[in-house]
Amino acid sequence: MTIIIKVDSENPSIEKIRRAAEIIRKGGTVAFPTETVYGLGADALNPEAVRKIYEAKERPPTNPLIIHIAEKKEVYRLAEEIPEKAFELMDRFWPGPLTLVLRASEIVPKITTAGLETTAIRMPSHRVALALIRESSRPIAAPSANLAGRPSPTTAEHVIEDLYGRIDAILDGGPTPVGVESTVLDMTTEPPRILRPGGVPREDLEEVLGRVEVKQTYRRYKLRMEVILVEGEPKSVIRKVRELAGLYLSRGRRVGILTIDEHKPMYETYRTMHRCEVKSLGSRKDPAVIARNLFGLLREFEGMGVDLVLAEGFKVEGLGLTIMNRLRRASGFNIVKA
Ligand code: TXA
Ligand code: MG
Repeated sequence: MTIIIKVDSENPSIEKIRRAAEIIRKGGTVAFPTETVYGLGADALNPEAVRKIYEAKERPPTNPLIIHIAEKKEVYRLAEEIPEKAFELMDRFWPGPLTLVLRASEIVPKITTAGLETTAIRMPSHRVALALIRESSRPIAAPSANLAGRPSPTTAEHVIEDLYGRIDAILDGGPTPVGVESTVLDMTTEPPRILRPGGVPREDLEEVLGRVEVKQTYRRYKLRMEVILVEGEPKSVIRKVRELAGLYLSRGRRVGILTIDEHKPMYETYRTMHRCEVKSLGSRKDPAVIARNLFGLLREFEGMGVDLVLAEGFKVEGLGLTIMNRLRRASGFNIVKA
C-alpha cells in the first residue's frame, strides 16, 4: 500500500510533512516533489532504507544516488576536500537545480554512492522538499521517482504510474516547475565536467568556473513507442516531419508529432485529416516552458496509444543542450538529419 498525501506546494501543512518525515525516519520510502522532478526519498545515511529505493525502482546497484540537503552546512558532513569554486556555485545556484559531485565523507554509506569515492549533493528549491528534509532531520537520498529507465516524473500521477504499491508514500504537491532534472557537475576533475546537462545551463556555470567540459551519457528511455528525432534548420525540419508523417500514416502507424507553438499550424492537415496527434511543447521563445512540458508530453503520447512520435530538434545552447539530451535519449539515437 502506498499512502498519497496531497500538499500545497507553496504552503505545505506541517502535519502532512511530519507524517511523511516519520516514514523517512523509520527507514521507509517517500516520493516528493522538487523544483525539477519528483524524487523517491529515503534516509541517505541508512543503508537498509537506501536499499529499498533501488528495489522499488529496479535500479541497477551501480547507479549512485543524489543526496538532498536543506542547509548548505550539511556538505561539510557529507563531503571532503571541497574545492573553493564549489562554494561559489552553492552560493549562486543553491537552492536550485545543480548537483555537485564531491569527494564523499566516511559517513556516506557505500550503497548510497554505489561504491564510488564521490557523492552527489544538492539543495532543492521547493518548499515541500525542504520541509521534508528539515522535519526528517536527515539528508535524503533521492533518485527520480520513476522505474529505472523511464522518463522522470513531473506529476504525482506519473509517480503512481510507475511506483504505486512499491513505495510507502507519495507527497503530491502538483506539477514540478522546472520539469527536467538537475545539472550534475563533477567538481573532482579539472576542468569540472557536466555529467548530465539539466536545469542550470552550461553557460551559467561557465560564468563562475571558466571552461566546463560536457561528458554526457545517453541511456535510452524505456517508452511504449518509437521516437524519431528530426534535426536541422526549422524549415527543413518541418518538411521532413511532414514527409515522415505521411509515410508512416500510410503504413497504418499511429503517429504523434512533437512540435513548438510556432510550427504547430504547419501540421494542421495531419491532425484534422489523418488523426495524427500533434502536441506543442511551448514557444521557441521560452525554452524553460519547453523543458517543463517534455516528459509529461512523452507520457501523454504513450497514454494515447501513439506508436511513433516524430520530434523536432532544438539548438544545443542554453537549456537546448538539456532538452536535446532528453530527446536523444527518448529516440535511442534514432535521428534523422533534415
Ligand atoms: O533533479 C534531480 O537531479 C532529481 C531530483 C529528484 O533531485 N534527481 C535525479 O536523480 O535525477 P537520478 O538518480 O535520477 O539521477 C542522478 C544522476 C544519475 O545519472 C547518477 O548516475 C548521477 O546523478 N550521480 C549520482 N552520484 C554520482 C557520483 N558520485 N558520481 C557521478 N554521477 C553521480
Ligand atoms: Mg533518474
